[in-house]
Amino acid sequence: MIATDPAPALVIEPMRPDDLDAVDEIERHSFKTPWAASVFAEELTREWARVDVARDDGRVVAFADYWLVKDEIHILAIATHPDRRRRGVGRALLDHVIALGRGGDYTLVTLEVRASNRPAIALYEAAGFARVGVRPRYYAEDDEDALVMTLTLR
Ligand SMILES: CC(C)(COP(=O)(O)OP(=O)(O)OC[C@H]1O[C@@H](n2cnc3c(N)ncnc32)[C@H](O)[C@@H]1OP(=O)(O)O)[C@@H](O)C(=O)NCCC(=O)NCCS
Repeated sequence: MIATDPAPALVIEPMRPDDLDAVDEIERHSFKTPWAASVFAEELTREWARVDVARDDGRVVAFADYWLVKDEIHILAIATHPDRRRRGVGRALLDHVIALGRGGDYTLVTLEVRASNRPAIALYEAAGFARVGVRPRYYAEDDEDALVMTLTLR
């Protein structure tokens, strides 16, 4: 009988400095106006900031950048590498952030998302987020509105 390796499991853990290139590549393939890699390097130094990565068989395939502000978790970005989308990775990362919130003293998860970003809005709504407001022309580079979405944890 030929032994086969088990399916590689997704591991979610804090980003390390040597993940910077992989996170930067995902960022550049995911956003209209990508943040510079230095932004993520700075995030690693901020006490209130967290960047978690999802590894599939060792490779960084997605990340979530969020801030812990008093009783609120504010998600700045979640992105999955284009060649790994629609396989549950983004949802796994989002569920990880929500579980952290439920396990701590957090009451709310908040985020802003481009009004035209249907995949992301679908992801957030599937996880229970509600649309609670609009920030008109929030994205200065093209004047697009942001939807404000929240998930109440308790
Ligand atoms: C939004 C994003 C993170 C989703 O990541 P993903 O790993 O593909 O998401 P998942 O496979 O876990 O999808 C979970 C659910 O989200 C929704 N969803 C995700 N992509 C979708 C799409 N293209 N169209 C419609 N619904 C979508 C679905 O409900 C999906 O569940 P399903 O596959 O069972 O139907 C990804 O598309 C991405 O990186 N986009 C660019 C960056 C971005 O816009 N980030 C969000 C703003 S911060």
